[in-house]
Amino acid sequence: MAPSVSEIVHHESPVPTNNPKKWHRVDLSNKYPPNSNLEERLEQHQPFEHVDPGSRADPTLPRLLSPNTKVKHLSPYIGTELSGIQLSQLTKEGLDELGLFVAQRKLVIFREQDFQDLPPEKQVAIAANGVSLTLEGFTQSHFGVPHLHATLPNIEGHPAYVNLLRQPGKRNINDYFIDTFLSYAFWHSDVSYEPQPPSTTFFWPLDQPTVGGDTLFLSTTEAYNRLSPEFQKRLVGLKALHSGVAQVEESRRSGGAVRKEPVEAVHPVIRVHPVTGEKSIFVNPAFTRHIVGLKKEESDALLKFLYDHIAKGADFQVRARHEPGSVIIWDNRVTNHSAVPDYGKDVRRHNLRLTPLGEVPIPAQ
Ligand SMILES: [Fe+2]
Repeated sequence: MAPSVSEIVHHESPVPTNNPKKWHRVDLSNKYPPNSNLEERLEQHQPFEHVDPGSRADPTLPRLLSPNTKVKHLSPYIGTELSGIQLSQLTKEGLDELGLFVAQRKLVIFREQDFQDLPPEKQVAIAANGVSLTLEGFTQSHFGVPHLHATLPNIEGHPAYVNLLRQPGKRNINDYFIDTFLSYAFWHSDVSYEPQPPSTTFFWPLDQPTVGGDTLFLSTTEAYNRLSPEFQKRLVGLKALHSGVAQVEESRRSGGAVRKEPVEAVHPVIRVHPVTGEKSIFVNPAFTRHIVGLKKEESDALLKFLYDHIAKGADFQVRARHEPGSVIIWDNRVTNHSAVPDYGKDVRRHNLRLTPLGEVPIPAQ
């Protein structure tokens, strides 16, 4: 969803320094100011071969689930909290295990982390295997090519960050929804319109309300499993169009950033995870437009059925609480998520996201 103009803050260009809190001309003492440069232009993502880190992992997960790691499952089908382990200390093999574990549990939350206090280079190294995410060069990374968003706020010079700041007293898109609708749920898989949509996604809060402002997640794998075998058979083989056009048009209309023209992609309605082999429903109301080959009423009815089915599945949904020091990691291929804007207008909420792209979705047979 595009930010309103009021979300975009202006700031002075800081002077380069050796201060570890400063990085690539960005003054981090001001907590990652959203990039105010509306002139920034980015290239479209090019096709790349994705080898999922989870496919290399030791399936016993010895580095991730060591005796020191405390494991708390949030629900049977999705969500696990880990504590007693620092994400920042994982080796490449440990990150491979993380990829597998996130694919299995769909959502993994690391608590009490030092991650948000690390220099950004280190954050990027963890999420993207040390690859430079600057405009000067980005390439294959540990979890996939870093996605560069066309419209959402980023960090100056580092377009791989999605930088979501909600400032006290400043009206933003959430206020529009709260003022307009009775309630809020915006289920989606991030930027599913990309030809190679996101895989293992990293998100961490910098500032959050004392209570509220969490994120809801659901398992689209379990949503698929709940369907009758006959209905599953009908969905397998179908394809749907996903579009980023509306997101770009809304940002253009509201005076936000448009760094590249929108893309669209046709994806299987039921996709297969490259590591677990699990099938999942891969449509979402934010970006899916229609089922290829169906007439409009047929497509609308089928998509509405799937959206209702997914949204009503309280028994395959969880709430990820945004506690200080948390890093929230989900697999965008097998989940949908929604923000929960249940906090007051005087609250500062600030989150960062790194969104590696994955494989071309594998159609279920
Ligand atoms: Fe999202």
